[in-house]
Amino acid sequence: MTRLHQCIVLMAITLAVGCAPEPEYPTLLTTWDDQALTITDPEKACAECHPQHVEEWRISNHAYSGNDPAFIAMTKLAQAQSLGKVGQFCVQCHLPVAALAQMVPSKFNVETRRFEQDVVNLDPLVKKGVTCDICHSIAEVVETRNARLVLATDGLMRGTIADPVPNRFHKSKYDPSYAESIVCSSCHAVVNGKGALIEQTFDEWQFSGFAARGETCQSCHMPEYQGQAAKDGPTRTVHRHHFVGVDVSLLPEDEFPGYHEMREMTAALLRTAAEFRVRFNADARALDVEIENKAGHSLPSGATADRQVWVEAIIRNSAGEVVFESGTLDARGDIRDAVAKHNLEPGTDPQLLFYGQFLLKVPAIDAAMSDDEKVRIRARVTAACLPVGLGVVTDDVEAMAVHFPWAANWQCNHLIGAEKTAEGSYDLSSLPSGEYSASLRLLYRTFPPFVLRTLEDLAGLDPAVKERLPTVTMATQQLNFQLP
Ligand code: HEC
Ligand code: HEC
Ligand code: HEC
Ligand code: HEC
Ligand code: HEC
Repeated sequence: MTRLHQCIVLMAITLAVGCAPEPEYPTLLTTWDDQALTITDPEKACAECHPQHVEEWRISNHAYSGNDPAFIAMTKLAQAQSLGKVGQFCVQCHLPVAALAQMVPSKFNVETRRFEQDVVNLDPLVKKGVTCDICHSIAEVVETRNARLVLATDGLMRGTIADPVPNRFHKSKYDPSYAESIVCSSCHAVVNGKGALIEQTFDEWQFSGFAARGETCQSCHMPEYQGQAAKDGPTRTVHRHHFVGVDVSLLPEDEFPGYHEMREMTAALLRTAAEFRVRFNADARALDVEIENKAGHSLPSGATADRQVWVEAIIRNSAGEVVFESGTLDARGDIRDAVAKHNLEPGTDPQLLFYGQFLLKVPAIDAAMSDDEKVRIRARVTAACLPVGLGVVTDDVEAMAVHFPWAANWQCNHLIGAEKTAEGSYDLSSLPSGEYSASLRLLYRTFPPFVLRTLEDLAGLDPAVKERLPTVTMATQQLNFQLP
C-alpha cells in the first residue's frame, strides 16, 4: 500500500485525525539507532553545576526559538499554505526536542479545513528550543545544512575540555570539533525543497578568509573568558553562551528573560558589524557611500529574506529645508523599494541603498524540463537582479517577489559579502549650487513591517509584536558640503 493509499484508508477511518501528505521535506534530524534522546531541563538539571552557562543561555535566541511569536505565526502559515508539505522541516531547528519526539505532527483539521501543527500548546521544556542537550550531543554532522545531524543518546556531554573533572551527573566526551564552525553548520544553512537558498550563514563563512584563518562562529558568538566550566571546577578558558546576533525577544517584556540585556548586547554587536564611510564627490556632484562588512559572513546574514540593512540619508539646504531624502519610510514604516507588495509608494526612492534578500517565485524554473535548464534560468535571474537593490523584475524572465520561504524557488540577494565593501552613491546633480548638510545613518532591523502585517492578517500574529521591533543605528555620518 502506498502512503497515499494508507492516507485515504486512514482518512476513511477517522476524518478528525486527518493525514499529512508525503512531506516535500524529509526529516533529517535524527538520533543514533533512532533511540530517544534524554532531554533535561537546563534550569533544573544543569544550573546546579553550570549556573553561569544556564544564566547566559536562558536569554539567548536558542532558548527563545520555540517561543518566538514570528516563528509561531510563520509556521502556522507555512503548514496552511504548503498544505502540510513543510512537515517537520521548520521544527527540526527551532523546536528540535519536539521534532525528535515526533510531538508536533502536521495534521489536516477538518473544521478549519487547514493543515495545522500545534507548536503552541507544548510542554514548557520542549519550548526551550535549542537546549543544552541538543548542542552537546552532536555525534555527527552528516550535511552542513537543513538540520542533518545525528545526536548521540549515550548521555555523554561533548565539548572541548580534554581533562574534565569527573562529576556524579554525567560523563564527558572530548570532541575538538566543538571548537569548529562545523557544529553550528547544519542549523545555520537552510535550503528549501524548491532549491531556494533561504539561509547561507555557514556557506558564506566557509568561503571567506575567516574560515581560512580559523576564525570560527565561536570566536565571535561564544567569546572566551577565564572562569569556571562548572561550580567547584578549576578556572579555565570558557565560552559565553548568550549567542548574541541580531534577534531580540518580541514578546512582552516579562514573558521572556533578558529583554533589555539582549537589546543592548545586540546593538553593541551591530555597531561593530560594519565601517560606514561617506565622502562628498564634487566632480560627480554626488555623495559616495562605502559600507565595509566586518562580520564573519554576509551582512545581513541568516534569515536574509527578513533582515533589512539600509542607509537613511537626509540632506538639508542652508535654510534647513529637506531637499533630498532616501531610506526614509512610508506611513506604515516600510522602506520604499520598487516592489509593489512591500510598501505604499513603490519606486519613490530610486536611490535607495538597501541590503537584504528578495525571495522569488520564477515560473520558468518550475516549468523547466531538466536540471541544466533550471541552473541556466537561475543564473539569468541572479545576473539580472544583481546591479541594484531596487527591483526584482528581470528583463526576460518573469519573477514574482514572495514574502515567505516555502513559496520561493529562487532568490535575489543584495547582501554585502564577507570581507566585501558595498559602494553606493547619491546623485545630487539635480540640486542647485549652494551649501548643504547631510545626515546619514546605517540602520538594521530584523523584520520589515509588511511581513509582520501579513502574519497578522493571515496567521493571527499579535500587532503589538511590531511595536517591540527595534531599529538599530549601526553607524552615523554627518557631513557639510558645497555644491559648485
Ligand atoms: C553535579 C554537577 C553537574 C551537573 C548536574 C552537570 N554537570 Fe556538566 N560538568 C560538570 C563538571 C564538574 C564538568 C567538568 C568541568 C571542568 O573540568 O572544568 C562538567 C563538564 C561539562 C561539559 C564539558 C564537557 C567537555 O569535556 O568539554 C559540558 C558540555 C557539560 N558539562 C554539560 C552539562 C549539561 C548540558 C548539564 C545538564 C544537562 C550538565 N552538564 C550537568 C558537572 C555537572
Ligand atoms: C568575525 C566575527 C564573526 C564570525 C566569525 C561569525 N559571525 Fe555571525 N555575526 C557577526 C556579527 C558582527 C553579526 C551582526 C551583523 C550581521 O547580521 O551580519 C553576526 C550575525 C550573525 C547572525 C544573525 C544574522 C542576521 O543578520 O540575521 C547569525 C545567525 C550568525 N551571526 C551566526 C554565525 C555563524 C553560524 C557563524 C559561523 C559559520 C558566524 N556567525 C561567524 C560576527 C561574526
Ligand atoms: C548552540 C549550541 C550550544 C548550546 C545551546 C549550549 N552549548 Fe555549551 N558549548 C557549545 C560549544 C560549541 C562549546 C565549546 C566552545 C569552544 O570550545 O569553542 C560549549 C562549551 C560548554 C561548556 C564547557 C565550558 C566552556 O564554556 O567552554 C559547558 C560546561 C557548556 N557548554 C554547558 C552548556 C550548558 C549547561 C548549556 C545549556 C544551558 C549549553 N552549554 C548550551 C555549544 C552550545
Ligand atoms: C539545533 C540547531 C542549531 C544549532 C546546532 C546551532 N544553532 Fe544557532 N540558532 C538556531 C536557531 C533555530 C536560531 C534562531 C532562533 C530564533 O531567533 O528564533 C539560532 C540563533 C542563533 C544566533 C542568534 C541569531 C540572531 O539573529 O540573533 C546565533 C548567534 C547562533 N544561533 C549561533 C550559533 C552558533 C555559534 C552555533 C554553534 C556553536 C549554533 N548557533 C548552533 C539553531 C541552531
Ligand atoms: C536548518 C535549520 C532551520 C530550518 C529548517 C528553518 N529555520 Fe528558521 N531559522 C534558523 C536559524 C538558524 C535562524 C536564525 C537566523 C538569523 O538570526 O538570521 C532562523 C530564523 C528564523 C526566523 C526569524 C526569527 C526572528 O525572530 O527573527 C523565522 C521567523 C524562521 N526562522 C521561521 C522558519 C520557518 C517558518 C521555517 C520552515 C519553513 C524555518 N524557519 C526553517 C534555522 C532554521
